[in-house]
Amino acid sequence: MSSAEVAAKVVKSLEREDYKLLKVFASGLKQHESLTKDEIRSYSKMHENVVNFRISRLHNMKLIGRNERGYSLLMTGLDAIALRILADDDIIIGVGKPIGIGKESDVFEAIAHTKDERILKFFRIGRISFREARRKRTFTSNHSTHHWLLINIDAAKKEYDTLNQLIYTGIRIPILYYRAMHCIVMNRIDGLRLADIKELEAPKITLQNILHDIRIAYKHNVINCDLSEYNVLVDSGNNTWIIDWPQAVSRRHPNADDLIKRDVYNIVKFFNRRFGLRKDVNEAIGEVMAIST
Ligand SMILES: Nc1ncnc2c1ncn2[C@@H]1O[C@H](COP(=O)(O)OP(=O)(O)OP(=O)(O)O)[C@@H](O)[C@H]1O
Ligand SMILES: [Mg+2]
Repeated sequence: MSSAEVAAKVVKSLEREDYKLLKVFASGLKQHESLTKDEIRSYSKMHENVVNFRISRLHNMKLIGRNERGYSLLMTGLDAIALRILADDDIIIGVGKPIGIGKESDVFEAIAHTKDERILKFFRIGRISFREARRKRTFTSNHSTHHWLLINIDAAKKEYDTLNQLIYTGIRIPILYYRAMHCIVMNRIDGLRLADIKELEAPKITLQNILHDIRIAYKHNVINCDLSEYNVLVDSGNNTWIIDWPQAVSRRHPNADDLIKRDVYNIVKFFNRRFGLRKDVNEAIGEVMAIST
């Protein structure tokens, strides 16, 4: 079971005071790597016995870990906080199946209170290097966990802000609903990854549509920076949707030119290879970067 699935189970049995303590960890995340029992007591304004009881519950649920200085939030704890926020704010009423366990995120189906389908994307940057470090026992404290929690919250903020910036451009991207900690909530695009598509009705037009969207984003000062056949979804009407924007940069980035060229290169090369097109990469780059038109 993934961390978010564990959290989804645990969140149901979280009592009010458990959550109150978890929130103490969340609100101190920027300032503190870990909290001593005294600090937890003073921030939560709860009685020592209550704090001891709640800490041992959260520890048993694997939402917080213990280290030489005190206690710190674990990834499952952050997941539980995010899920609780989403439930309390009426954003979702339940978490469904995992649909994409990627390198840097876990993506789940979810149901909104309107019964509409949603997608939850939990950021998991550092998971691989983190596991590696644990395997090699290169660290003993929760230092790395804490570091990655902050990085993942920032990545979620970044994707949220970028999608927000592109909302009114008319390009096809996920509709954004919410961010809670390191999790963003979007609509579910009913489509397949471009990488999984063997045949297209009119590949030339599909490619032009994607290049058009890249150009509009570029015109609005956004370069995706991770564009490839894995980050484009194609729906049953052959509409293309560009997903996965946490690495986006603006045209002011020192390597902006190289980054936009690489995005275009990846897409054009894929179409030429998979669908036998002969689109000239430099011509495509020229079209995308001609932002005055
Ligand atoms: N809005 C969405 N609608 C439908 N499916 C989605 C949506 N967002 C993400 N997915 C699915 O989840 C997968 C992973 O999402 P995304 O590419 O945003 O994360 P990622 O961490 O970059 O994944 P990877 O490391 O594998 O590229 C996608 O390939 C896609 O199958
Ligand atoms: Mg991706």
